[in-house]
Amino acid sequence: MPAHIVVGMQWGDEGKGRIVDWLSGKADIAARYAGGDNAGHTVRVGDETFKLHLVPSGVLYPNVKCVMGAGMVINPITLIRELNGLAERGIDISPERIHLSPRAHLITSAHRALDAARESQRGESAIGTTMRGIGPAYVDKTAREGVRVGEMVNLDRLADHVRERIEAANRTLTDQYHVEPVGVNSAVDELCKAAAFLTPYLADVSLEVYEALQAGKTVLCEGAQGTLLDLDHGGYPFVTSSSTLAGGALTGLGIGPHHVDRVIGVGKAFTTRVGSGPMPTELQDALGNELRGTGENPWDEYGTTTGRPRRTGWLDAVILRYAARVNGLTEMMITKLDILSGFEELKIATEYTVNGQTVRHMPSELNEFAVAQPIYETMPGWLDDIVDVREFNALPSAAQHYVERVEALAGVPVRLISVGPAREQSIEKKL
Ligand code: IMP
Repeated sequence: MPAHIVVGMQWGDEGKGRIVDWLSGKADIAARYAGGDNAGHTVRVGDETFKLHLVPSGVLYPNVKCVMGAGMVINPITLIRELNGLAERGIDISPERIHLSPRAHLITSAHRALDAARESQRGESAIGTTMRGIGPAYVDKTAREGVRVGEMVNLDRLADHVRERIEAANRTLTDQYHVEPVGVNSAVDELCKAAAFLTPYLADVSLEVYEALQAGKTVLCEGAQGTLLDLDHGGYPFVTSSSTLAGGALTGLGIGPHHVDRVIGVGKAFTTRVGSGPMPTELQDALGNELRGTGENPWDEYGTTTGRPRRTGWLDAVILRYAARVNGLTEMMITKLDILSGFEELKIATEYTVNGQTVRHMPSELNEFAVAQPIYETMPGWLDDIVDVREFNALPSAAQHYVERVEALAGVPVRLISVGPAREQSIEKKL
């Protein structure tokens, strides 16, 4: 029966891991459908903090099966490290509950080297990638030259194909970028060793998800990154190389749209971005620093994957409206509302001025988005700490108004609000 899709409404880091964790309690399968270990999903359970890059956040519930779909690019070394790290902390990582699509593509050391070389050649116009080799792996995939996870079942063929791809990448690295080639034998050995560990996890994820849906089970599709990092509909070229939108869940897992009954957008109560590219509501001042936090807490605004400080700014409702439209959101969940406590007043961008014109919708051209000036609405803030609030009506009235205003501006009802990193620091709002 139902598939629920969870997507980020901004530039990633919206707190999807935490929301997926919250929703996973009622799911049978948690599925990642796009991206790779560029993602970093932080989940806090009791005193423990888990940082997940490839395995779906649902893994922390023992009865939830976890699958990684065809739309993903997999760094096998990171995946093994992540699985072993989970096992050390008592999480069941057996191949009975975790499955990996043979159709997903492998990331090699040459992809990571190419990512670094391209970024360095871009100079001032660097994208600010996570350097995980994501873009180059998807380039190989679309060029129909990539190495698929399923090739790990035949070590001789895997070795030949990896060798051929690494040698081709090395020619590009040396001739075009004038950097050191990567070791061919070490790359081949690394992948062959990884294959021994990972092959038991291979399964037809599309079929598994389909059969689960047919049997009336609930599948939670966990998006990575965010709407504005989508390859087609994000702020190209400052995007990732995959389909981060709700549509990507269908192609990335191999299921049809009629299974989907909820499309859940996760939006942070303010805006953050890592990497380069326009961000109209960015605050490069003390207010921005206050939103970022000092980095002492795991939930401060520093990248889970790279540790880079995130750019911070006021909430941008133009972006939320865009995310609602291109994903077809049925509802929204707001994270980190507690971080806004203590501000005397809060601002929300409701529209932009672009070259003297007022625009209500996200510009599709980067050069227009780059000069967009936010038109702000100012709202009263609240001073009380809200981390212990569990009922919407118990929030300070200014916080209630802020949430209601976000709903009205985005055009999507808010169903859940998080007021702290722990599982229980959540407020359900009646639709
Ligand atoms: P890539 O995905 O490593 O190629 O990076 C492309 C862009 O997406 C860069 O701006 C990254 O900072 C951004 N990005 C990729 N993954 C994430 C994520 O999980 N959260 C936030 N930004 C991300």
